[in-house]
Parts: sequence; structure tokens; C-alpha cells
Amino acid sequence: MDSSLLSCQIDPARLRSLLGGASGRFTIEALRECGSTSTLLLERARQNATSGSVLIADRQTAGRGRRGRSWWSSAESGLTFSVLWRFTGGVARLAGLSLAVGVAVARALENCGVPGIGLKWPNDILLDGGKLGGILVELDAQPDGMVAVMGIGLNLLLPAAGAEEFLHRPASLSQASSPPPDRHQLLARILLELAVVLDRFAVAGFSVLREEWQAHHVWQERAVRLLNGGLLDREGICLGADSDGALLLRTAAGIERCLSGDLSLRAA
Ligand code: BTN
Repeated sequence: MDSSLLSCQIDPARLRSLLGGASGRFTIEALRECGSTSTLLLERARQNATSGSVLIADRQTAGRGRRGRSWWSSAESGLTFSVLWRFTGGVARLAGLSLAVGVAVARALENCGVPGIGLKWPNDILLDGGKLGGILVELDAQPDGMVAVMGIGLNLLLPAAGAEEFLHRPASLSQASSPPPDRHQLLARILLELAVVLDRFAVAGFSVLREEWQAHHVWQERAVRLLNGGLLDREGICLGADSDGALLLRTAAGIERCLSGDLSLRAA
């Protein structure tokens, strides 16, 4: 596929028209380049940016992933954006938020006709087992409640670097459908699903989305390892997530709750 055909900056006006009646819930800005959409939006959160602020960048020069990793993508290969959302209450109300965002992204991809979408705890988006994208949720406590900046990166094309350079085998939307979904339509669908999911989450928390998340969880009931800093932390049978979004593992010691780490399949 000629990747130059896919290279286009998001047009906020077109995006707004695709959002229809929900466009009033979002304030959209698209940049050719920035360090990181999430870093920029966190700065703006401290300057009173409104809930529903969306920042999209064709290219990030300092894109960030989970656990201090970097996130690489180009205008042609990726869709990278962050969404700011305000919540009332304290940080405990936001347990499981990154998993809830995963549910919204999975719904959006499926509504765009992409088959084979899965989720991997805590916030990888998978396509036929490869990493299609990731979610990075960052929180800031403010006097009137919590602000969440939800950064989402999706591969439209396979990243240029060789697969051996990635911690997880990458996947891209171009593998699933040719041509891949139009990036404006995909982004609009994600924002629409996010609004629905976040409204529900704000009222009832992750527990009401848990069943849908588990249905997408690719390593449910499978033997897994949990790594921390590359070292084996625990291993057991993956029982999915609890109502706070913590991973549940059945280990030799019983059922354990795990709050962070990298999940990998255990060799049979
Ligand atoms: C991960 O899988 O480690 C999470 C990756 C999140 C990447 C996105 S791209 C848009 C936003 N801006 C960033 O700097 N990171 C997130």
C-alpha cells in the first residue's frame, strides 16, 4: 500500500461533523507535531482546559507509553491523540478507568468493521494477538475533582522498525481491513464511544463495564506470568479483572490481586 495516501492531518471541522449531536461535548485541536499530546493536555488541565478537550498530533517527538517507555509513530503509520475528562470525587472513583477506555476503543474498532479485536490487561489493544495500540491514563487531582488525560495510540500501518525492537509483536489496522478505516471516521467513533462509556463509568464505575472487558480479554483463564521490571513477579491462571480493574491471578497461594506489571503468556 502507498503509505503517502494515508498521510493527512486530521481536519477538526470534518471530525466535528462526524460527531453530529455529540460534537458539543468535545473541543478539538489537531497539530502537525508536538512532544506528546498527553503531556500538553496535562499542562492545559492545570490551566483549566475544559472536559472533552481533544488533542491530536500527526507526529509526536516525545510520545510516551506505560512504565516510562516511549511511544513511536509517524503521521502515516499512526493515530495518536489524548482526551481530557473531568470527574467529580477523588481518585478512588477512577479505579479501572484505563480498562473502561479499552472497552470504548474496542467497541469503536468493532463498529468500524475491524474483526479480531482483543484487550490485554491493563491497557493494550490487540488485533489477532499483536499489539495494535495502547492506552495511557494519567490523573491530576484538582480542587474540584479529578482530571484524567487518556492518551491513545493506534497503529494504522505497521511501525517501520523491525518487530524485534518492540516489547510486544506489533499489529496494524492495515492487516485487518484493506483499506484501513478512514482515520476521521475511526477517531469520531472512538470519541462517541468514549463519551458513552465515560458517562456510565462516572456514575457506576468500572464494575458495569467489567463483563464486556472480560469478554474481550484475550488471556482470560490462561496460564500467564506477571513481570515487573522484566523480572518474574507472579504466575498463575488469569481470572481477568476485578470491579476495580485489578488483575486477578489464581496462584499456588490462592487468588491474588495485582495492580501493575506486564502480562505475558506462560509457555505450556
Ligand atoms: C502503551 O501501550 O504503553 C501506551 C501508549 C500510549 C501512547 C499514546 S499516543 C497519544 C498519547 N500521547 C503520548 O505521549 N502517549 C499517548
